[in-house]
Amino acid sequence: MSKCPFSGASSTPLTASNGAPVANDNQSRTAGARGPVTFDNHYLFEKLAHFNRERIPERVVHARGSAAYGTFTLTKSLADYTIADFLQTPSQQTDIFLRFSTVGGGQDSSDYARDPRGFAVKFYTKQGNWDMVGNNTPVFFLRDGIKFPDFIHSQKKNPRTNLPDPQAIYEFWANNPQSLHQSTILMSDRGIPLSYRFVNGYSSHTLSFWNKDGERFWVKWHFKTNQGIKTLTNEQAATMPAFGAQQDLVESIDKEDFPSWTVNVQIMTEEEGRNYKINPFDLTKVWPHSDFPLIEVGQLELNRNVDNYFAETEQAAFAPSNLVPGIGASPDRMLQARLLAYQDAHRYRVGANYNQVPVNAPRCPVNNYQRDGAFAGLNPALAGAGANFYPNNRAQEGEPAEVPAVAEPPMPLEQDAWLDIYDNRDDDNFSQAGDLYRIMNEDQKCQLVSNIADGLSQASQDVQEAMFAQYDQADEDYGKRVRQAVAARIS
Ligand code: HEM
Repeated sequence: MSKCPFSGASSTPLTASNGAPVANDNQSRTAGARGPVTFDNHYLFEKLAHFNRERIPERVVHARGSAAYGTFTLTKSLADYTIADFLQTPSQQTDIFLRFSTVGGGQDSSDYARDPRGFAVKFYTKQGNWDMVGNNTPVFFLRDGIKFPDFIHSQKKNPRTNLPDPQAIYEFWANNPQSLHQSTILMSDRGIPLSYRFVNGYSSHTLSFWNKDGERFWVKWHFKTNQGIKTLTNEQAATMPAFGAQQDLVESIDKEDFPSWTVNVQIMTEEEGRNYKINPFDLTKVWPHSDFPLIEVGQLELNRNVDNYFAETEQAAFAPSNLVPGIGASPDRMLQARLLAYQDAHRYRVGANYNQVPVNAPRCPVNNYQRDGAFAGLNPALAGAGANFYPNNRAQEGEPAEVPAVAEPPMPLEQDAWLDIYDNRDDDNFSQAGDLYRIMNEDQKCQLVSNIADGLSQASQDVQEAMFAQYDQADEDYGKRVRQAVAARIS
């Protein structure tokens, strides 16, 4: 007769996934004391089969991350600019979920890579989820999404050796001078944050607001850390425990030392956008604060850790296309690529009904005519007996209907637009990289140049020459110092 030596007294019965109590979770059924397992071990088979399916694909980028819940408190009404429900009344609070990440490494890679940090915030507003899927840098390496897969391939591991590949990293940058501003930030003293609490967050993209009069404004978001920026040198980073940033976040929230950020926006009118010297939709450029000052609008605090990493952080699905009435996209062509890419990634990674997973589910009712699919545990409210088509004649019965009041005003195009391929590779790629270099102090310049030389010295000579020419164009001194540092590494 089988015994169950590990069973202790508990008011909670251990069950199989069908809810049936399990008598023995530790021994398989066998043909005799020394014989094989028999085919009636359906509980063993269930357990092994479920184990085989515990993983979902890791994110193709930003695979390593940590997240927490918190609160956004509005301190200044933005009603003049937007109808967004959560931006109307000072002291209004909105629940949020924020996931930080590195970009290039796998799920268990080090928290201390020289890499941008993802800063993705989900605002659970009363009119749906707004996701601000940003980074800790105000710009990005590219201004056209068609380059994104090539860029990521070049920065991740070599396909043959599975090792980091400085040649590929710099070969991509040598062929894409538009990356220079962001790569200068990445190689600077700000390239390795001490932990997630010490980074700023930026929408980086230009988004838009529209108000009750149908006026549109261009907007950039800035989340400034109240903990101050803290960073590490390469040498310091090498001494850190691999998962230190995650540990720091979890522990600081557990001991109620809640990290917070001051939230600001930069706002540009459509008219200003038309005439501004910089293309306001170029993701490789900032809007100088002297032209468009920061307007402080709120505080964001993280105050609750996740209960389960997989269910919440791993299944979290952020999407730049998660917009709400009053917040829109812009003509930024990188942003448009992202409006498509993220939902597509979630359907692949989590499944068609990823928005039903609690961390992703809006905190307001979801009423529509989308139905069924894998794991459709919660078809929309009236779905059981209700109509599954639209338009229908059942609005009186409470079936969902469109809300014309939240229609977005038309988005202007700046000039007569002909569908074509417009070559913007030679847009100014260097001025802002040079401006950034020139405001660095001596120590920062030395760190920047040394960090560049670490990788560039391992690249081929043609790639080195192309990069030198880019640094020269940003600032002559920048180019001169990189040349010297690379020469010193090689000699
Ligand atoms: C066209 C360019 C881009 C494409 C195609 C792209 C694509 C992706 C994809 C497919 C993911 C994984 C999503 C998932 O599986 O959950 C991702 C994650 C992410 N991306 Fe991008 N990305 C682009 C540019 C950017 C830019 C410019 C930023 C920041 C300004 C950014 C920030 C992030 C962040 C923060 C995450 C992680 C979100 C999370 O924590 O789950 N990406 N991106």
